[in-house]
Amino acid sequence: MDRGLEDRVVLVTGGGSGIGRATALDVAARGGVPAILDRDAKGVTETAALVTATGAHALELPADVADEDAMRDAIERTVSELGRLNGVVTAAGIFDGPDLQPLADVTLETFNRVLSINLTGTFLAIKYALPHLVRSEGGERSSLVTIASTAALRGHGFGSGYTASKGGVAALTKLVAVQYGPHGVRANCICPGAVDTPMTNGAWDDDASRARMKRAIPLGVVAQAAEIASVAGFLLSADANHVTGQVMAVDGGSTAI
Ligand SMILES: NC(=O)c1ccc[n+]([C@@H]2O[C@H](COP(=O)([O-])OP(=O)(O)OC[C@H]3O[C@@H](n4cnc5c(N)ncnc54)[C@H](O)[C@@H]3O)[C@@H](O)[C@H]2O)c1
Repeated sequence: MDRGLEDRVVLVTGGGSGIGRATALDVAARGGVPAILDRDAKGVTETAALVTATGAHALELPADVADEDAMRDAIERTVSELGRLNGVVTAAGIFDGPDLQPLADVTLETFNRVLSINLTGTFLAIKYALPHLVRSEGGERSSLVTIASTAALRGHGFGSGYTASKGGVAALTKLVAVQYGPHGVRANCICPGAVDTPMTNGAWDDDASRARMKRAIPLGVVAQAAEIASVAGFLLSADANHVTGQVMAVDGGSTAI
């Protein structure tokens, strides 16, 4: 049975935790080979162990997405060891406490730190992956999936660096869809709402926060990482062969309010 990503190699940044880890597992479940990149080397090894426990293969890439040389090397290593690159999911990101202050109080250092990982790190992954993703006419399309946030879609509730970085990720994804669509590359952006991962750990533990969350999300629950990963898996697969340039909220309906 074709599971949708048979033998496709997919680079997953932020693959050491949360949504990235769930995406690596989803890629493997669809028959693909995840190349797991994260600056947390222990997280990379743990995800690789989870993947190999299912009988699938994985490549470990401990690297910082904000380090240009490290990203170039990691992507070259992926292609030289696994022979190809068919897809990329950019899930590496940070949510910085001081960034949550009113904009006038956010320091340039904090703003730049968030941008350097969330936006520049996404740019570097795409830049060095694209030469391998480009296909000859008539060849099977490759797929880029970026992970932004509902922060890209509304001006409420997040830090200025985080909001700017995620808006940038969504815009960059559309640009890739337009520039590289003629070269066989599809590019789509997922904007998750609240997801239960180490990034948000404990955010809904008290009664008041849970009640606020239920009012903010029509489905009444936060997402599990696997519920974001399954959309990424769909967008990577040929089931989404005509889908490109889309910015898609996966948020339990929160942006419909
Ligand atoms: N959890 C949520 O509610 C939520 C909502 C919307 C969007 N997102 C986005 O989803 C993505 C994944 O977040 P998550 O919730 O899985 O969080 P997470 O903290 O569980 O995972 C993020 C991963 O990114 C890695 N990372 C951070 N900086 C890095 C760097 N410089 N180089 C390489 N790796 C780096 C971390 O080590 C970690 O493994 C992020 O981009 C986040 O902004 C999360």
